[in-house]
Amino acid sequence: MKLKSFILALSLGLATVPLSAQDILIQAGNTDLALRVGPNKRLYQIWFGEALADKSDYSKLSWNVYSGSDGSAAIRGWEVSACAGGEDYFEPALSITHSDGSQATYLVYKNHRTRDIPGGTETVINMADELYPVEVSLHYAAYPEYNVICSWSEISHNEKAAGITLRNAYSPMLYIKRGSYYLTEFSSDWAREAAMSSQQLQFGKKIVDTKLGSRASMHSHPFFELGLDAEAREESGEVLMGTIASTGNWRYTLEVDNAGALRVLAGMNSSDSHYQLPAGQVFKTPDFIFTLSREGKGKGSRDLQGWARHYRLRAGMEPRMSLLNNWENTYFYFNQEKLAGLMKEAATLGVDLFLLDDGWFGNDEHARNGDYAGLGDWEVNRKKLPGGVPALCDAAEEAGVKFGIWIEPEMVNPNSTLFEKHPDWAITQPGRKTYLYRKQLVLDMANPEVQDYVYGVVERLLSDGTPDGDSRIAFFKWDCNSPITNIYSPYLGSKQSNLYYDHLNGVYNVFRRVKENYPNVNMMLCSGGGGRCDYEALKYFTEFWCSDNTDPVERLYIQWGFSQFFPAKAMCAHVTDWNKGASIKFRTDVASMCKLGFDLGLSRLSEAELEYLKSAVSNWKRLQDVILDGEQYRLVSPYEENHMAVDYVNADRSHAVLFAYDIHPRYLEPLRRLKLQGLDPDASYLIEEINLMPGTKSELEGNASVFSGDYLMKVGLNVFTQNAMQSRVLELTKVKD
Ligand code: DGJ
Repeated sequence: MKLKSFILALSLGLATVPLSAQDILIQAGNTDLALRVGPNKRLYQIWFGEALADKSDYSKLSWNVYSGSDGSAAIRGWEVSACAGGEDYFEPALSITHSDGSQATYLVYKNHRTRDIPGGTETVINMADELYPVEVSLHYAAYPEYNVICSWSEISHNEKAAGITLRNAYSPMLYIKRGSYYLTEFSSDWAREAAMSSQQLQFGKKIVDTKLGSRASMHSHPFFELGLDAEAREESGEVLMGTIASTGNWRYTLEVDNAGALRVLAGMNSSDSHYQLPAGQVFKTPDFIFTLSREGKGKGSRDLQGWARHYRLRAGMEPRMSLLNNWENTYFYFNQEKLAGLMKEAATLGVDLFLLDDGWFGNDEHARNGDYAGLGDWEVNRKKLPGGVPALCDAAEEAGVKFGIWIEPEMVNPNSTLFEKHPDWAITQPGRKTYLYRKQLVLDMANPEVQDYVYGVVERLLSDGTPDGDSRIAFFKWDCNSPITNIYSPYLGSKQSNLYYDHLNGVYNVFRRVKENYPNVNMMLCSGGGGRCDYEALKYFTEFWCSDNTDPVERLYIQWGFSQFFPAKAMCAHVTDWNKGASIKFRTDVASMCKLGFDLGLSRLSEAELEYLKSAVSNWKRLQDVILDGEQYRLVSPYEENHMAVDYVNADRSHAVLFAYDIHPRYLEPLRRLKLQGLDPDASYLIEEINLMPGTKSELEGNASVFSGDYLMKVGLNVFTQNAMQSRVLELTKVKD
């Protein structure tokens, strides 16, 4: 080590063994991210890609310097925290207006440290402006077992009372240099979530963002895939898969620069959100979670799913409850007796829980008999449910199922007692005609009093009828149907540009309190379908509702889309009456690939259908550890064929489940064998078709026979048919040698 570098290392008290004294290495299994402190003390990326075996080789890497600079000063390089006002003219990671009005910031390296975190190592690099008292710490949490990195920035300062304004705030920037880049984005709408489409990126920017305020998605989701050198494929090729953990306004910007490098920026959407940051307060950008797979999207998804189950998703390693929901069965029209009957139906079905949806609250002129009234008045409707929550819990207990309940506590109908009492608690603009989305307004979560109120809704419900403190409500479905409209926070006064960030942090404060105080209550995220599906909210929730669209054919696409980033365990899929043309078997087999639930009345089913459902529920419960905790292999894409198939394999590869679907095969379409994946090639597996309609026998060639894993993965099985909307579920059990 050169003397100068050695002295620098000593004076900084570096905790890690540097590659060269100025290099910092973030190691995420098969991927390394190497950063270098330049002679100008700024921080540059020198490598992001396949991990080198000999780490000292990174010292041989030259600077990624743009032509025109003199090299020795590394002026225009791949700066990870490039700020506005500097010499790089592309999208900066940070844009700060200082208290004197200056718009330029140059961040230099101060020191860094590493610490162990569950599953990995967190590296924190402290940067500061040389002229202004502004500090930025860059965080990289690396999870080697899953090849995942989670990065974010924290910004704070000690400038004058006027504070600083953040015009732009992304997590640290990533640079990639390849011949071509192919983006897969996930567009969305009500009932059309997670729709995948791809395009090649050319010079310039591609920006995807949202301005919804209270939910992560409506027209686009906070995740993307980037095929490097070729379009992202399922089983091969290099692909960067990234997702922004934000339930509010997020943005990703992908910019191909003049030298053909791609800059990846992910963070908050600063549109209408120039954040006024007071001295001493820390501003955190959303986590940007990413993995770089060299074995296609399938491996990237398995890594993200495994990482999420182990380190992110609330209760990620715990089992989930199957359930019967009443929403599509009753809508707002029910009473105690009707619900008690449905609880018995839930028990007949064999599911774990009965979930009471919207419509149980509000009284008198604010009774929730439609979406036009009652939100905010979280008192049980005395006419429909005279015995209140305790009677509902009693009925569930009597039926032998657990009880869960729907809430939407961040919202208020103007037609409610809450709004009459506290009109200033709603985000709405005084003096203008109010625009209502689903006849409701969003509560002003920037206001701590409102946060307490929202938390109190949960607290009161959980303590209702539970004198011993042991709550009888086992589950919440937490809905959020409206984006923020009529943008004005009565609480924030002149600091309106802080609304989106402060609102979101208010929401997270409540989520945090609920999780801390009620760790055993499972919670489903819902947002007018799949509008809340992000890895910040999922720290506090056990699962999310993918879509109100439960047509099984559509669900094959929706679930395929979400599975790119989320484990099956987090994805709620219910069997409903959507697409009655599809058999109950097809509908149930599609939902059985995720967290299974039902939203239909059993009385409308035939005896055979009910028998089938009971056995399908019992199979799902028996195989939950394979389906929800196993490795998922996407085998046939509905985007590419008239069929779809996925298999799940448990950790020791002794047990697997294959789901195969025929969607709309062409007339006399030639069928191909399906090769499975993830099995032990040296093991033998007994194949059994399950989820069969009563009275029918499996027509699968090879059913009840034993095959080697090698055969199943190289030759495969004839599981597809030429019939529309047909499905097959196969259980594979390793037989003793
Ligand atoms: C929207 C959700 O997506 C539905 O499942 C249902 O809970 C309704 N809200 C209730 O209003």
